[in-house]
Amino acid sequence: MVLSSFEGARGARGRSLTVVGVVAALAGIACAADTAGIVIERAVITIPANQVPSMLYFTVHNPGGDPVTLVGAEVESAVRAAIQSPTPHRMPLASAARGASALMSHVHEVPVAAGGTVRFTPGGFTVVVEQGARALVPGDSVRVTLLLAGGGRASARALVVPYDALEQALGDDPAAERDAPPPSVAAGRALYHSDGCVRCHGSLGRGDGPVGLTLVPPPRDFRSAAAFKNGADVEAIARTLATGIPSGGAMPLYAHLSEAERRSLALYVISLRIPPSQ
Ligand code: HEC
Repeated sequence: MVLSSFEGARGARGRSLTVVGVVAALAGIACAADTAGIVIERAVITIPANQVPSMLYFTVHNPGGDPVTLVGAEVESAVRAAIQSPTPHRMPLASAARGASALMSHVHEVPVAAGGTVRFTPGGFTVVVEQGARALVPGDSVRVTLLLAGGGRASARALVVPYDALEQALGDDPAAERDAPPPSVAAGRALYHSDGCVRCHGSLGRGDGPVGLTLVPPPRDFRSAAAFKNGADVEAIARTLATGIPSGGAMPLYAHLSEAERRSLALYVISLRIPPSQ
């Protein structure tokens, strides 16, 4: 039943993919008897976008009586996968040129306490994945394996989602909503000042900060919604902060912030707008 639905899902995309899917499904079943007793839930992997590589997120639960330590990950379809976490950069100036991973640093061990749960989420632990030749297709799934200290392995399938659908794919977790305060203009104003936006965009968002005056193209003047290249609503601005502006420029990525923080910044940016009628 499971296998036939796998075949059905892939049938339209050609024979070789069907075979790969079935083999991967069989491998997944064989690995259900993994050495490690940990449980991987809600795994999702993003399709690479702009300068942002593929990212893998999941929740890992350790129902056993002993702590375990995650030391690495493997992803079918990938050349490399590494556990990273955001570096608390205040002003990631050159990050736009170097890509989001410049904001991340490698993590060698992630402990999961006995009976404990650890979430890999945007803004927290992330498996950054360098994809191989096989393109990720939305709605497909790929097999991911977590490596544990002492040689244990545990596998699950990660749902492939476009970056914009990530929040939705991760979102219906009540714990995540409890942890993150809802986005607000006030939180956005604080982040705007603490995270370096003022240096380029200026304290009133007119694109006239001290660094901004030296840049070509100049930073956006937030007073005019019409000037935005990537869209000017909350969703679009939050996405711009996460994935960057395709044409480049000095605008850094803020992929290390949480989605709620990016939305707060977006709300604040919008609050600086002057309606066209005035
Ligand atoms: C190093 C300078 C610099 C910093 C710091 C910076 N920006 Fe920018 N920003 C720019 C530049 C330059 C552009 C215009 C890029 C272009 O036109 O391609 C821009 C464009 C934008 C845009 C317009 C996107 C669009 O669709 O046109 C938004 C929104 C934005 N920045 C928000 C922010 C926020 C919020 C922060 C702080 C979290 C920030 N920027 C920090 C330089 C900066």
